Amino acid sequence: MVWVVGNRDARAGFFHSKDDVLTYYEIEIEPKIVFLSFIIMANKKGHIPFMDKQLRDLIEDQINKELWSAYIYLDIAEFYQSKGLHGLHAWFEKQAKEEVEHAEKFMEFLHDRDESFRLKPIDAPNKVYKDLREPLAYQLEHEKLVTSLILAIYAKAKEAGDPIVTHFMSWYINEQVEEEGHSKELLDQYDLFAKDGGLGLHEFDKDCGKAAK
Ligand SMILES: [Fe+2]
Ligand SMILES: [Fe+2]
Repeated sequence: MVWVVGNRDARAGFFHSKDDVLTYYEIEIEPKIVFLSFIIMANKKGHIPFMDKQLRDLIEDQINKELWSAYIYLDIAEFYQSKGLHGLHAWFEKQAKEEVEHAEKFMEFLHDRDESFRLKPIDAPNKVYKDLREPLAYQLEHEKLVTSLILAIYAKAKEAGDPIVTHFMSWYINEQVEEEGHSKELLDQYDLFAKDGGLGLHEFDKDCGKAAK
């Protein structure tokens, strides 16, 4: 059901009611621009609505995926530590900490939306790295997988008509752009300067250590 309303300062809007959720959309009319902005979303009691069940489940799964990412990066950190590359070790430890923070941010969000959730078992990292390049290539591959999961949550939030989640997910989308970018850069730098070992590798490892601080 839709109600159209207007007011005196060249603004107009409409209420849309669906599945017990009342949404107010505002249309702002500028000389050359007409844009629609979302203003309020509330249920009939005036509260933020309950989250779509499938959307909630996807976010709950993503908490697990973020913690799994942390596990993978700790495993890579340990691999480099075992090779005497302390800069790369520090870099991947830092990545692992960031992944835990991503998981915590999702947990806090579900909590704030009054949604319950459970932590699930984390898959063990199962990669065996044959050389120093493989973990760097795997990091990029893994971040691309995570990006696809994040985009799937965003798409589901849009489909469910939950602008609070779409807004929240935009932080993760930006974060993934950064994470894929950094992973690609690290791999490129390795190929350019470090793949032949020696001083190039030593400098590369030192730079990774500095970047981890
Ligand atoms: Fe993450
Ligand atoms: Fe990540």
